[in-house]
Amino acid sequence: MKKIAPSILSADFSRLDKEVRAVERAGADLIHVDVMDGHFVPNITIGPLVVTGLKKLTSLPLDVHLMIEEPGRYIEAFAQAGATWITIHAEVCRQLRPMIRRIRQLNVRPGVALNPATPLRRLYPVLEEIDLVLLMSVNPGFGGQAFIPAVLKKVEQLREMIDRNNYSLEIEVDGGIKLENIGGVSRAGGDIFVLGTGIFKTANYRETIRRLKREVL
Ligand code: DX5
Ligand code: ZN
Repeated sequence: MKKIAPSILSADFSRLDKEVRAVERAGADLIHVDVMDGHFVPNITIGPLVVTGLKKLTSLPLDVHLMIEEPGRYIEAFAQAGATWITIHAEVCRQLRPMIRRIRQLNVRPGVALNPATPLRRLYPVLEEIDLVLLMSVNPGFGGQAFIPAVLKKVEQLREMIDRNNYSLEIEVDGGIKLENIGGVSRAGGDIFVLGTGIFKTANYRETIRRLKREVL
């Protein structure tokens, strides 16, 4: 089943509880949490404390996207805080496998993210060990950027590889997704669609999510 993952990066943080409950009621499938450290990306956002708070607010799975330079130092804290998925960036890990195994040992589902310019072959050694590949369709760091169309080819290639080898993992696409382009991302092979501004900057979350789901059927 295709899934819609609102990124709370674009929510109103002065009323985060209401925002999270509103997207849950509106039909979101998971909550995407963008963690940024001011090193891997220029922005600073959310730490494990906020994830602990989110866990109390919602029964939706928490999809924690670590855009941080030293994920190994924080995996345990995010697992304890209640992450369902933890996704680490291939660009910061010389050795992905040990990190993936640690995530799995903590009963969290491991994912690996690739920046738009990072080739798919970085994933080949670990494709059988992960539950999720997150393909960035903007350069990480900020919400509200334009979708990079070249990433569609990458989505198609990964889809083909997954189907050919029967890997049991989902493709998540993150950045610049809107009602106008989500259909194309879905046809290319995406399973999970992250939207920040594409949901939180719209007037009626329920209507937006309903229309998004109709596009990806
Ligand atoms: C970007 C983040 C995204 C971002 C998406 O670094 O990983 O999850 O919040 O926001 P939009 O949908 O506005 O591009
Ligand atoms: Zn993200």
